[in-house]
Amino acid sequence: MTPSPDAAPALRADVEHWTNDAVAELIGDRAVLALDREQLVPARLAARAAGDDPIALLTRLFALGDTLSVAQVARALPTLGVQGAAASGLIATAGASDDDPVRALLDLRPYETETHRWWIASDRGESVTDARLEGDHVLGVGGASLTLASITMREPVGRVLDLGTGSGVQALHASTHAESVVGTDVSRRALDFAAFNAALAGVTLDLREGSLLDPVAGETFDLVVSNPPFVITPAGAPSFEYRDGGMPGDGIVGSLVSTLGGVLNPGGVAQLLGNWEIRSEGWEARVSEWLDTSPVPLDAWVVQRDSLDAAQYAEVWLRDAGVIPERGRVAFDEAYEAYLSDFDRRGVREVGFGMILLRRPASGSPTLRRLEFLEGPIATPLGPHLVASLAAHDRLDSLNDAALLSTRLTVAGDVTREVYGRPLLADPEHILIRQGGGFGRAVRADTGLAGFVGACDGELTVGQILGALSALGVEHANELLPAIRELVETGFLA
Ligand SMILES: C[S@@+](CC[C@H](N)C(=O)[O-])C[C@H]1O[C@@H](n2cnc3c(N)ncnc32)[C@H](O)[C@@H]1O
Repeated sequence: MTPSPDAAPALRADVEHWTNDAVAELIGDRAVLALDREQLVPARLAARAAGDDPIALLTRLFALGDTLSVAQVARALPTLGVQGAAASGLIATAGASDDDPVRALLDLRPYETETHRWWIASDRGESVTDARLEGDHVLGVGGASLTLASITMREPVGRVLDLGTGSGVQALHASTHAESVVGTDVSRRALDFAAFNAALAGVTLDLREGSLLDPVAGETFDLVVSNPPFVITPAGAPSFEYRDGGMPGDGIVGSLVSTLGGVLNPGGVAQLLGNWEIRSEGWEARVSEWLDTSPVPLDAWVVQRDSLDAAQYAEVWLRDAGVIPERGRVAFDEAYEAYLSDFDRRGVREVGFGMILLRRPASGSPTLRRLEFLEGPIATPLGPHLVASLAAHDRLDSLNDAALLSTRLTVAGDVTREVYGRPLLADPEHILIRQGGGFGRAVRADTGLAGFVGACDGELTVGQILGALSALGVEHANELLPAIRELVETGFLA
């Protein structure tokens, strides 16, 4: 059963004051931190102690899997009412008397950005049902959803496609900066949840059922976002619609990278998350292979954020599927073996995880092919940094070295310099120029490059600074231009 969008207006009135801040204030820091560890008990105890406060009741019913009484639900949902909520597929009641028990049929919780407040309905998770997830489980907002939302470039755009929309969270984000949003999914249930969430948000989405690009054949977009079902699942391991694309290995991500160019308008961008198999040739070879098969030549910026060896990967995703030794050693071992046999047969040593940005050039040929491994903390949201980096790339691409020499650059406000060396040595052994925002990059600089960055206050041109450095005895100052270009493109210099 999925919730009916008809319930949305009345439900909206009832949840209007149910915000994350209100919940945090109610349950306190201990419970908030425990929720981050997927432990519900401290939050349940705190919410129960708040008695008949509507925020406490909504949280207990829809987010914490608690059973309430009919009278309590009537208090939590005064506009929709107990009958309305039951008729719309939100709750199940054992009877109509005040004391009869009521439980939620779905998970519902506030989801907020700096500028918008929504509520996301999805299927209930394992922590409240204490049962293995169904194959057609519809996911709520997870870590990968937040990552994609954070990296998405939120410039005003025309048409957006959210491929694999699930409960619709990326589509809701896109609605804040797009003229129209199409959300697609193979799962009818997921689309029903997305329709409900859109109605609750008062947002119009064009939701379509179908696999990959089938539902949008012949159409083009300015932005495509996708948190695709990228989990690699061999035959013999448990599979879920929300995380397994149904293609062998990392085929779904490869297929998207090779085909998304065909639905992009000139200048259009696709941003997705992905897993990729790493064989002896290294991860860049795998991703480059996909990029090279795109019939539409694309700019590409791919960042690998992490990788796991084949055994670690199997363990992580078996655990995520609820397949753990404590629940049955034989079943766990069999599924684990299925993973490793599949990986070994295909020569997969590790699996990489990261983000992929593709851009169809507005005109001409691609100018960007950047594949890099960047781990560690990154800015949230990252989208503005990506917008600035692409703009810097395009400006640099149109500047020859002579033009660059007559440009004035300014060091970005988040850049710091760290100098390392023995206390008794006059000169530093090395200098790190570090970025506070963006990808949090750190660049090892020699005294020439460090001196250059230190002089970029927007007063002197690049050529004047390099000239001054030469006069001060810095050798080969003019050879710093490639490093300067890199610092501009990566956001150290503007
Ligand atoms: C990881 S979930 C992402 C949900 C949501 N977009 C988010 O960011 O949280 C992947 C979604 O892709 C859908 N999906 C699976 N296979 C698909 C396919 N071949 N084509 C389109 N969507 C698919 C799943 O049903 C699921 O809703």
